[in-house]
Amino acid sequence: MARILVTGGTGYIGSHTVVCLMEQGYDVVIIDNLSNSNIEVLDGIEKIVGRRPDFENLDCLDYPNLDRLFTRYPDIEAIIHFAASKAVGESVEKPLMYYRNNIGSLVNLLELMSVHNVKHIVFSSSCTVYGQPDAAHLPVNETAPIQKALSPYGNTKQINEEIIQDTCHSNANIHATILRYFNPIGAHSSALIGELPNGVPNNLLPFVTQTASGLREKLRVFGDDYNTPDGSCIRDYIYVVDLAKAHVKAVERMLSGKAEEQVEIFNLGTGRGLSVLEILRTFIKVSGVHLKYEIVGRREGDIEQVWADPKRANEVLGWKADTPVEEVLLSAWNWEKRLRGIE
Ligand code: UFG
Repeated sequence: MARILVTGGTGYIGSHTVVCLMEQGYDVVIIDNLSNSNIEVLDGIEKIVGRRPDFENLDCLDYPNLDRLFTRYPDIEAIIHFAASKAVGESVEKPLMYYRNNIGSLVNLLELMSVHNVKHIVFSSSCTVYGQPDAAHLPVNETAPIQKALSPYGNTKQINEEIIQDTCHSNANIHATILRYFNPIGAHSSALIGELPNGVPNNLLPFVTQTASGLREKLRVFGDDYNTPDGSCIRDYIYVVDLAKAHVKAVERMLSGKAEEQVEIFNLGTGRGLSVLEILRTFIKVSGVHLKYEIVGRREGDIEQVWADPKRANEVLGWKADTPVEEVLLSAWNWEKRLRGIE
């Protein structure tokens, strides 16, 4: 079975993807600088899969050691590139850190792919490239216009997509799959791996579960005066394990020579938009926990509503995100309970 290099493989989406890859029989080598993840994630992966992935504590910006890694693992056939800084707010404070980390890492990998004859790369992009699509483009498919990014983080995703397009255009040997994620949530059903936010979470679900566990006093709902049925923002929340499976499909498609274009782009979402208040109500129902929340003003830079048209991924990748949201929210809660030693 092929070996896959997973950058950022101890992170949230990365770790779930490593599990799926290994369950399908792939050999995996993870590189991660552990800047936003924990080495113990490897134990969780090993418990779930029964095998431990190879791991190197390595920063993708470290070109000489990255070069040596490819030499040590000459059987790497594809790369899944997750490693990146990902906090929107932090990117506004530290734009150069974001441009250096996120763009430099990709450039190093693409250069070394040519040197070491690695032909396939999957890139983690985001629905953030669409900004707020107009009504005619909802649900949003892959042909919707790209809009000017609202943050340096979002801009790095757009620039990286362009770097991939330009590189593939100039080098017929490199094939890429760009995956535009909507909002990943939940944790592995074993509760052995999940999301480990650093400090105060920015994203909705970790904030919900931390509030439910008593770590935070109450959740703030950012705005109920949007032009949506209940006034709160709408997103396409996708189960992280479903998302992980799409990466395996993308790798399989490239390795088996089925990709029809040198760069293929897929939206990864459920096709269903849910409001913040719907998520809260469903979480309360499935967890049975009384969750304190209050409505506050809008959060700057928030998109009002966006959800995916996942038809292309469904039909071309043969993949569908179909885990019921109740089950997904319960998985997030079970993970939080395990982390906090509840029950
Ligand atoms: N929200 C709250 N309270 C919170 C946190 C979030 O009400 O404490 C709301 C937000 O206002 C938003 C929704 O929950 O309406 C989802 O917010 P998230 O921060 O979880 O997700 P976003 O859709 O804002 O951001 C995500 C990723 C970004 C990415 C963006 C693309 O976190 O990396 O999608 O749209 F850029």
